[in-house]
Amino acid sequence: MNITDLKNISLKNRMPELLCEHPGMISNAERSLLFNLAKHYFQNQGTIIDAGAFLGASTVCFAQGLKEANITNIKHKAIWSFEKGIVRNNFQRFVEAFDLQPHFIGDSFTETFLALTANYVDYYKIHFSDILDYTHPIENNVEIAFLDILKTEKVCRHCIEQFFPALLEGAYVIQQDYFFDQLPFIKYTQEAFSEFFSYEGQVNSSALFKLNRPITKENVVNVLDSLSPSDAMDLHIQAEKRTNNNERAYFMQLSRAWLLADIGKLSEAKKHYRKVKEHFFKENSYSEENLRKDFSHRHNLLESYFLFMESWTSAPSLFGDSSWEAFIYAND
Ligand SMILES: C[S@@+](CC[C@H](N)C(=O)[O-])C[C@H]1O[C@@H](n2cnc3c(N)ncnc32)[C@H](O)[C@@H]1O
Repeated sequence: MNITDLKNISLKNRMPELLCEHPGMISNAERSLLFNLAKHYFQNQGTIIDAGAFLGASTVCFAQGLKEANITNIKHKAIWSFEKGIVRNNFQRFVEAFDLQPHFIGDSFTETFLALTANYVDYYKIHFSDILDYTHPIENNVEIAFLDILKTEKVCRHCIEQFFPALLEGAYVIQQDYFFDQLPFIKYTQEAFSEFFSYEGQVNSSALFKLNRPITKENVVNVLDSLSPSDAMDLHIQAEKRTNNNERAYFMQLSRAWLLADIGKLSEAKKHYRKVKEHFFKENSYSEENLRKDFSHRHNLLESYFLFMESWTSAPSLFGDSSWEAFIYAND
């Protein structure tokens, strides 16, 4: 399976309208990518990992693709979805927009997930638990891995350890938060496996990679354990070059500032942030209103992180004491 033209797959091959209407956090172009990957590229030789399913938008996109390709295997459901299913403070906007049952923070939303995805139960199996407690059976091959769950370094490392050694040659990995202004560890960990993957292209904030040769468990440990903070920076810079989109390129620069702060280079991080911000707004004619709408929350979050890092005393380490995890926990 070879994708020759990503634009073709994600934009021209339109998906059924109903997939756009499912409550979810991914864009229509990304929905189309998942639908078309399942419909045209899935070989039925392994599993589709849907890690971070929320209310099932990614799940139903894959499932509809399988349905249209006439792939059903009731016994071995092809899609394996993962979701903790606990309401966080971003849930309310979905309740309002989609007229869902009201939920409180900390409630379970698993019943709502099941109701919304009921038409596709023949295609998916859902793991409602913390993915950190999950061990993937090595004999279960993976053909497509959609990673929309790598929100902390710990989860990122765990998912790489569980899923990368199970990937079949030719498998696709979709990193949903790649061209995003936070989560720099997603970029440098993925880039650390560059000798195994080719980069296939970008759909909004997602990056698509294809596996060219199998990865063993030992490869994973060797690659991740040998990463130093300066390797992480070099790999992040490599990732920054993957996008031609102005705005996404700016987000990647903000992500570099997060990484600099993470690895203990706080004054360099602040300097980098000031410089890229000034440059971006000089080069692009953004109005004050656009600036507030599109970027303020990103800038505010990064600036709060700088403040937070001023009192962070643990030594910088890539997968150890996570300042990011402590920060989001404190700000949730
Ligand atoms: C960005 S959302 C996924 C959006 C989804 N793919 C869609 O199509 O709308 C990320 C999801 O990952 C889940 N999540 C985050 N960390 C998790 C963990 N450690 N274990 C299980 N689920 C987790 C969150 O509950 C959240 O619903």
